[in-house]
Amino acid sequence: MQITMIGAGYVGLATGTCLANMGHSVRCFDINAARIVRLEHFDIPIYEPGLEEAMRSAVEAGRLSFSTRLRESVAEADAVFIAVGTPSGADGSIDLSHVLAAAKQIGPHLRRGATVVIKSTVVVGTARRVREIIARERGAFDIRVASNPEFLREGSAMKDFMEPDRIVLGADDTRSRNILRAIYRPFERAGVPMVITTTGNAELIKYSANAFLALKIGFINDVADLCEKTGGDIADVTRGIGLDRRIGESFLLPGPGFGGSCFPKDTRAFAATGRQFGAPQKLVETLIARNDQRKLLLARRILKEGRLAPESTVAVLGLAFKANTDDVREAAALSIIPALQEAGLRVVAHDPKAVPNAKEHLQDVAWADCPYAACTDASAVVILTEWDEYRRLNLDRVARALSGDALFDFRNLFDPRSVGQHGLRYFSLGRAATSVRQKGGISPIDRWDRRVAAPGHA
Ligand code: NAD
Ligand code: UDX
Repeated sequence: MQITMIGAGYVGLATGTCLANMGHSVRCFDINAARIVRLEHFDIPIYEPGLEEAMRSAVEAGRLSFSTRLRESVAEADAVFIAVGTPSGADGSIDLSHVLAAAKQIGPHLRRGATVVIKSTVVVGTARRVREIIARERGAFDIRVASNPEFLREGSAMKDFMEPDRIVLGADDTRSRNILRAIYRPFERAGVPMVITTTGNAELIKYSANAFLALKIGFINDVADLCEKTGGDIADVTRGIGLDRRIGESFLLPGPGFGGSCFPKDTRAFAATGRQFGAPQKLVETLIARNDQRKLLLARRILKEGRLAPESTVAVLGLAFKANTDDVREAAALSIIPALQEAGLRVVAHDPKAVPNAKEHLQDVAWADCPYAACTDASAVVILTEWDEYRRLNLDRVARALSGDALFDFRNLFDPRSVGQHGLRYFSLGRAATSVRQKGGISPIDRWDRRVAAPGHA
């Protein structure tokens, strides 16, 4: 099948590449011509594990190409996917301007009988709206519009696309339903559940899925707070509830509040749709406020527990909204760092991949090349992203580099029982804070214990 992707961002690139490797002939178009030129040279503007290799193999097989010419890109296509951004408008409702502009742009150039597939996350009713826009451009209703929401996550996009839990195909007519099924035939053959439904239901499914996952995270963050107050341990609690198959173990990790390019904007759009249609989504409204507030409450926790002198330095490790991506959109760091700066602290930050993107959003931050350099002479260190590099930190080295002794781990990367031995006061989520032993080594009492326990000691 000849497929064109309109929009070569995270979703357009990842899905376009995977569809090409499945045997389709895919062309990616983007209004950002510079991006297309870079892609032609395999200079990939985003960090996504496995994407470059997959792209190279699809291009070498002659099934993936890039273009800045719109007419040429869509004229022969059987299916044209719209995968452009759908950000939040000023009031939190969805800004559909990119989707509607894309529809208007492609309208005149589509081959008669082609199917336009909306891949972007859009509010209910958008597929019908897009169909009308295209019909207006063409003076005829000869193009069908379908909905195929995407569930991949950044950082694991290739695997998520190739190993989906289900595929949602929304179509309001037989022909576009058949086109969608033909595109995804290998998955259907492999037994992946296919949810074949209307465009409206497909649109509702996408938002409901994201809102539900975000609710799981918001809930567990509140439970983590309760564990802290009652001396509980969030790891045991999540295991205890997650093993109930009705609940499931995934998306129950406490963190500094969800971020990224999807959950924050999609929960806002979902809530706005509820208000618009007189079906208020109060749980989600509360979740949005709690999640924003959480980031600031954690900043306050650093200030309160860190024993920080005015103008002291805090090292922040992790700027991306989660590990394995360079994306900083609505990352916790973008709320927590400015809050610390407002309180008069200096911030030194490190991230293995996201510094260039973070620089566009943060001011007056000193950037460090490695986590230990960030910690040097800092009064406290704060971990915001669960990069493996941070899991492997040598905490003795961290303790020696710091001038203070507080480690705030808002991803629960370490075992609280062991961190105190490195001379650090340890604050994590949903677990009791652990107190410091002697900084830079073991405490006198530990040393005495070890001497007494040593072989040969009388
Ligand atoms: P993105 O910002 O990374 O990419 C969007 C691309 O579209 C950009 O390269 C932009 O230049 C291009 N574009 C904008 N207007 C255009 C136009 N008129 N014609 C051609 N190109 C145009 O966005 P993304 O993260 O890929 O998200 C795209 C959509 O997919 C959004 O609706 C998002 O909610 C949804 N989604 C994203 C993810 C994710 O993990 N990022 C997952 C599932 C769904
Ligand atoms: C999300 C959806 O999961 C995906 O299906 C959709 O298509 C796009 O949006 P993404 O934003 O890439 O994917 O990342 P995800 O792994 O869902 O994480 C989102 C945020 O929630 C991150 O800030 C992450 O750190 C946080 N999170 C996730 C938690 O705090 N705890 C968890 O257990 C899981």
